[in-house]
Amino acid sequence: MEKQINKEKLPTHIAIIMDGNGRWAKEKGQSRLFGHKAGVDTLKNILRCAGNIGIKYLTVYAFSTENWSRPQDEVSGLMDIFLVALKSEIKELHESDVKITIIGDIQKFSQSVQKGINDAIELTKNNNGIVFNVALNYGGRWDIINAVINIAEDYKQNKINKTDITEMLFSSYLSTKNIPDPELIIRTSGEQRLSGFLLYESVYSELYFTDIYWPAFSENDFYEAIIAYQNRERRLGKISEQLPNN
Ligand code: IPE
Ligand code: IPE
Ligand code: MG
Repeated sequence: MEKQINKEKLPTHIAIIMDGNGRWAKEKGQSRLFGHKAGVDTLKNILRCAGNIGIKYLTVYAFSTENWSRPQDEVSGLMDIFLVALKSEIKELHESDVKITIIGDIQKFSQSVQKGINDAIELTKNNNGIVFNVALNYGGRWDIINAVINIAEDYKQNKINKTDITEMLFSSYLSTKNIPDPELIIRTSGEQRLSGFLLYESVYSELYFTDIYWPAFSENDFYEAIIAYQNRERRLGKISEQLPNN
């Protein structure tokens, strides 16, 4: 499957909504947390694959602003899983030249989780390999509102004028300011919605949905999504005949 990927037409940035951990576990008669742990293994594998084939940015939705509403034991179990995964993987990620970045409001997390995250960002900040961007306590509306608040503040302080407020300036106030928009967004588990993921950035993303639950998502499934993306015609508002290869 990997051989069918056109290396000249790779997306620069792939974003993934890793969904279906709970249902995968339930089908196996296991707890939801068992599913989340298995999801971490899938993530390790897909991050490695993405780096190997030359993807520059991988963003994953790990915890949404709405996920706090889950049962308390699931939320705290997820926090433990984040922390354990960070601690056990950070060395290897750093050795693989992965640069870790975060989008989302991590101030709501415990001190130990925040420290783990900040240490990982600091340690890997000069790495030149794939940018691994994790959305934690992230929501697209949160990000947009935050941008509006900061733009209003800068306007008030005469740092910007009304006419400066363009699409590009707005992007520079979002948490994804240093990352290009994702060309491809994958969602696993059969749900076909964004659930607040990258609202502003996804206007021209190709959306790819698969029924496979995240813990069962394999390298080949990942390659299949990339191949499907490569077979789509991205017109960006133009007509077919205007595109370079026509
Ligand atoms: C995705 O899997 C992981 C998180 C949202 C943290 P889910 O936990 O949403 O799994 P399902 O959708 O209930 O199967
Ligand atoms: C979206 O999954 C968020 C993450 C994958 C972290 P959810 O399972 O929380 O989304 P909904 O509630 O089904 O839309
Ligand atoms: Mg879900």
